Amino acid sequence: MRIVFLGPPGAGKGTQSLRLAEHLGVVHLSTGDVLRQSRAAGHKIGLEAAKYLDQGQLVPDELVVEIVASRLADDDCTRGYLFDGFPRTLPQAEALDKLLDARDAPLEAALEFMVPHEELLKRLSQRGRTDDAEETVRERLRVYAELTRPLANYYDDRGILRGIDAVGTLDEVFARIMLAVSDLS
Ligand code: AP5
Ligand code: MG
Repeated sequence: MRIVFLGPPGAGKGTQSLRLAEHLGVVHLSTGDVLRQSRAAGHKIGLEAAKYLDQGQLVPDELVVEIVASRLADDDCTRGYLFDGFPRTLPQAEALDKLLDARDAPLEAALEFMVPHEELLKRLSQRGRTDDAEETVRERLRVYAELTRPLANYYDDRGILRGIDAVGTLDEVFARIMLAVSDLS
């Protein structure tokens, strides 16, 4: 199964995509997680990315596309993958399509998580990741609306967009996701 998880910061993409990946036995690929791990390990990419993460800005496209391309080359990716927080811009979406076309394995679905603004603010204010400070969250939401939200149209035009009501308990949301992907192999 090859799915993109799309949605604003705090929508639950990480929580639900990890659970689905475990359930299906496919790879979970979060560019945000990779960047944070790389930073914690003191690697060059992570340190370079840190200044963007801390300000709620997107890391340059080339950098994340490179991360995804190298991960897709790993053997365990043959069974499928769930992309969490990638792509986030039109150039990233186009680069992903190229990578997947080269493998003859196009995306099957893009799940767009829908959560009201106030609920996102509430969830992130309760978590406390370093980029969850009020001002940074505001910037992340602004960047999402400007650069990432348009990807919903991009995937809708190809007929693979599926909306998910992502308000409710973790089990309720997971059940909606299972239903939304139940027709995929
Ligand atoms: P990234 O790590 O992708 O963060 P994000 O998209 O901003 O969103 P979050 O991870 O905060 O939210 P989520 O939707 O995963 O929700 P979660 O499950 O955690 O990106 C971080 C940064 O990295 C970016 O700002 C950028 O700098 C860089 N970056 C990453 N990818 C990039 C890319 N492709 N291009 C360029 N730059 C990139 O849940 C949030 C909270 O809500 C948790 O506390 C959770 O427990 C709770 N929660 C989850 N579900 C529910 C529920 N149903 N009810 C109540 N609470 C819930
Ligand atoms: Mg996340």
